[in-house]
Amino acid sequence: MCGIVGYIGNQDTQEILVDGLRKLEYRGYDSAGISVFTGEGLQVVKAQGRMANLESKLEQHPLVGTAGIGHTRWATHGKPSDANSHPHTDAQHKFSVVHNGIIENYLELKDELIRSGINFVSETDTEVIAHLVAREYEGDIVKAVQKAVTYMRGAFALGVLTEHEPDKLVAVRQASPLVIGVGEGENFIGSDIPAILKYTRNVYILNDGEMAVLTRDAVELMTIEGNFIAREVTRIDWDAVTAEKGGYDHFMLKEIHEQPKAYRDTMLGRINDDGKGVHFSDLKLTPEQIRNIRNVQIIACGTAYHAGLVGRNIIEKLAKIPVETDVASEYRYRSPIVDKNTLVIVVSQSGETADTLAALREAQANGAHVIAVTNVVGSSIARDANDVIATLAGPEIAVASTKAYTSQLIAFYLFGLYLAEVRGTQTTEEIATTLAAMEALPEQVETVLAMAPEIKQYAEHIAQHKHLFFIGRGVDYAVVQEGSLKLKEISYIHSEAYAAGELKHGTLALIEDGIPVIALATQEDVLEKTVSNIKEVKARGGEVMVVSYDEHREDLLKSVDYVMTIPKTLPLLSPALSVVTLQLLAYYASLALEHDVDKPRNLAKSVTVE
Ligand code: F6R
Repeated sequence: MCGIVGYIGNQDTQEILVDGLRKLEYRGYDSAGISVFTGEGLQVVKAQGRMANLESKLEQHPLVGTAGIGHTRWATHGKPSDANSHPHTDAQHKFSVVHNGIIENYLELKDELIRSGINFVSETDTEVIAHLVAREYEGDIVKAVQKAVTYMRGAFALGVLTEHEPDKLVAVRQASPLVIGVGEGENFIGSDIPAILKYTRNVYILNDGEMAVLTRDAVELMTIEGNFIAREVTRIDWDAVTAEKGGYDHFMLKEIHEQPKAYRDTMLGRINDDGKGVHFSDLKLTPEQIRNIRNVQIIACGTAYHAGLVGRNIIEKLAKIPVETDVASEYRYRSPIVDKNTLVIVVSQSGETADTLAALREAQANGAHVIAVTNVVGSSIARDANDVIATLAGPEIAVASTKAYTSQLIAFYLFGLYLAEVRGTQTTEEIATTLAAMEALPEQVETVLAMAPEIKQYAEHIAQHKHLFFIGRGVDYAVVQEGSLKLKEISYIHSEAYAAGELKHGTLALIEDGIPVIALATQEDVLEKTVSNIKEVKARGGEVMVVSYDEHREDLLKSVDYVMTIPKTLPLLSPALSVVTLQLLAYYASLALEHDVDKPRNLAKSVTVE
């Protein structure tokens, strides 16, 4: 993971770097550091832990200068420590490097450098780069970086400075994201746009195998081989405030509350004026290809994978096409059966998840047409896919994904309806009914959000437990898997999610007096069966909370301890409402346990290593 930022200009470099790093902390927060050209040469300050540690070191030892690079780290090679923090330098401290990614052959390179007499001060793969650039330097930093890169295998976005040429900042992108910000008399680099948005809205998005040479007054783009590239500047018109907390205590809570808007935005422009069909004319996938689809594979990681589980139910029900779902890290290694009549859908909020990107490439290599459902247009996955369905959730900052997940559900509903329309598996009336129910969802989410006090009270209760279970059938089973992940990742309470009918095949042995079991019961066709499973749990002493509809409240209360009711919608659409209760539950449980909600331990927002 990791985030990098860089600046060359006439403003206070330290302030700009620190500001950019704060925006990038979601990419990793094991340590942070900056390196600046000062009156006394290239100086580095870095610190293990959160940005606050770096900032207090900088208060003692400010770095005054007009060019610099910075880094926030999510440890891959070497534990979080001051020594392993970036920037890394060569032995003479003349070159300084920040890196996001992994150098796969670093041990080989490190051995060779050690044999030539170089001492390493860290356990990182990145330090190798600083020594390589120094070794290859013959008076031209651009050439030295180009040469060094030829020895490296893996993924890297780099920012490089040298004291020998203080008027240059060199940036390289190879399979890790990097953008170049263009200012007046100043230029920037960043792992993403929010990191530099405060200073400029004009950017170049680098492609793999490209580099940029920044001076105060110019940016030169070229391939790693040195061929110059002419490219138009992209103007970003996002609102910088959307990246701030907007009055909420945490980004996660803000993002949970942004879901009605995210639903509306993702539907925007996709529904015909008469409400009887959907638009996907932006896709390259032709109606003829759609009619020839033999199977669909949905591939993703974590929460995005859970959206894919709901997506499978949607496509199978609406379009009657067989769908497999797979986690991306497994997909490549199981010899998947793919051909040109396989439609592959990869789902990724960040668009940078390495496992998902690798799965996408595997599917394409086998001839599949790949559609990316992503929240970051311009991301690696968006650019490599054959088609993109953008979820318009806006930037998601909290590590625990909420609005991106539900926007992915909306994208699946729309696309499922489109497939059904083209293949003739739903009537116009059926499509219109689903679309009308979808248009009601944003307001219904507001009703679920208003349940926050009730959910908070129950969350404070479960926060006293070490283990709990989630159960559900059909799409409810897909949703409880997401509810369980959400709770684990931010409250650190152990939970497991089961298909309600599966408990009796082993897990029931774990149910004992007072253990909380959370059941989703929104699927009318299997409601009685879910209630039977709930009774099996009650009979073993489990304490059951069920999420269902008001019309079942009285009956359910005969068998369970707590009932929460959500607004009624079509069975297939219920995940878009029920999951919001589980998001709030996880949020308030984490809060009750006084954890860092937005930055849970050991995790990072964007996982760019396999
Ligand atoms: C959990 C969460 C992760 C991500 C996963 C994939 O809340 O956010 O499980 O869903 O790391 O990330 P993307 O969607 O960026 O590919």
